[in-house]
Amino acid sequence: MIEEPSLFDVSVAEGRLQGAEGHYRKHYADLAGLYADQASFAALLAEKAGDIAYEVTSFTPGGKTSDLIMGVTRMEPGQVGREFFLTRGHIHAEGDRPELYYTLAGRGLMQMESPEGEVRLIEMKPGQVCYVPPFWIHRSVNLGSETLVMFFAYPADSGQDYGIIERSGGMRVRVMDDGQGGWVAEDNPDWRPRSAAEVARIMGDEVAA
Ligand SMILES: [Fe+2]
Repeated sequence: MIEEPSLFDVSVAEGRLQGAEGHYRKHYADLAGLYADQASFAALLAEKAGDIAYEVTSFTPGGKTSDLIMGVTRMEPGQVGREFFLTRGHIHAEGDRPELYYTLAGRGLMQMESPEGEVRLIEMKPGQVCYVPPFWIHRSVNLGSETLVMFFAYPADSGQDYGIIERSGGMRVRVMDDGQGGWVAEDNPDWRPRSAAEVARIMGDEVAA
């Protein structure tokens, strides 16, 4: 039996995929340890620990490689010290699964890092779609002063490994306010390269081939 087609409305104003059953929220209190400036993060928590930092509504039709999970992510603007608000970030547990992000509102940046530590930073504005190829660790950053809203889709069996960033002491660079209305990538002094063994584990057959 083949699956029935479906249609969803995307509310850009609300940053939601209407009628989608999948829903998760990250509160500021859930983002401990992500930001460089601990004092500013504590001040943010004192003000809005229970507020929503970002939120995802999604449709999961099934779990097969040949199917797609799709959804909308909505992220508040702001900074912790000079560092722009970001999502926790991950690599797909099945590392060879890609993802696409289509920006609907706001000004964002897709921060990517390869297992070997190469960095790619792609700015996105409404009407642009970013293709995140297989094997890139990825997180979104809100560079602007408005809510960042993006539509995304990825293979349904991708899964997420959130620990990969933590195990390396964060991502290699931090995206900071340059004080002149723009952003600058600064090296994260806590970052540690992944071992050859971990890179090989992530790359799997790609390395063996
Ligand atoms: Fe992803």
